[in-house]
Amino acid sequence: MKFLVTAGPTREFFDPVRFLSNRSSGRMGYAVAAAAAARGHEVVLISGPVALAPPPAVRVVNVVSALDMLAAVEDEIEKCDALVMCAAVADWRPKVFSESKLKKRDMAARIELVPNPDILSALRPRKGNRIFAGFAAETGNLLEEAQGKLLRKGLDIIVANDVTQPGAGFETDTNIVTILSTDAEPEHLPLMGKDAVAVRIIERIERKAPAAP
Ligand code: C5P
Repeated sequence: MKFLVTAGPTREFFDPVRFLSNRSSGRMGYAVAAAAAARGHEVVLISGPVALAPPPAVRVVNVVSALDMLAAVEDEIEKCDALVMCAAVADWRPKVFSESKLKKRDMAARIELVPNPDILSALRPRKGNRIFAGFAAETGNLLEEAQGKLLRKGLDIIVANDVTQPGAGFETDTNIVTILSTDAEPEHLPLMGKDAVAVRIIERIERKAPAAP
């Protein structure tokens, strides 16, 4: 199969040195890309800025902002059988970008923001037979929130994690996830390495694919 995976945060700059972003380390997405490649799939990884080495046998496309990531996903979507959106895409970006570094004295106390497009929703019309998987990083009502996103975003699979639990979520090598899908009961996985979680996700996608290898 051909996998398109996104990982890491996006950065939303408002001048050449300042940006809005989030705590995503990219580890979960890199683990998903590496696991898919190790299982013999062709993998393109669209990555926000992270401090990780490219996984072996994976083509990496580096991006910075949510709009860059959307454009890169749009460029690659036709060629893939499965899209796994692990990236923590910033929901908002500053309305104005200043080409020169803002002087402290010129900075307003408020930054005006505009919403970024939802990449999964934007790609939904081009889904066809592709498997779409997403992540839901929550701080409460985990299953309810994830189930809502599964339906709202038109996904086949959503991987839910409560980022407040020790050993789960951002900046750790482990995660505690529940895999929800449109055709099976939620699968609760125990605390596992992100590499092992990634294998479980890839296996689920392989089972769902119309023509699995
Ligand atoms: O709504 P929320 O951001 O929690 O949804 C998370 C899922 O949606 C993740 O799979 C993430 O990669 C994806 N997403 C997206 N475009 C955005 C924000 C999130 O595709 N602008």
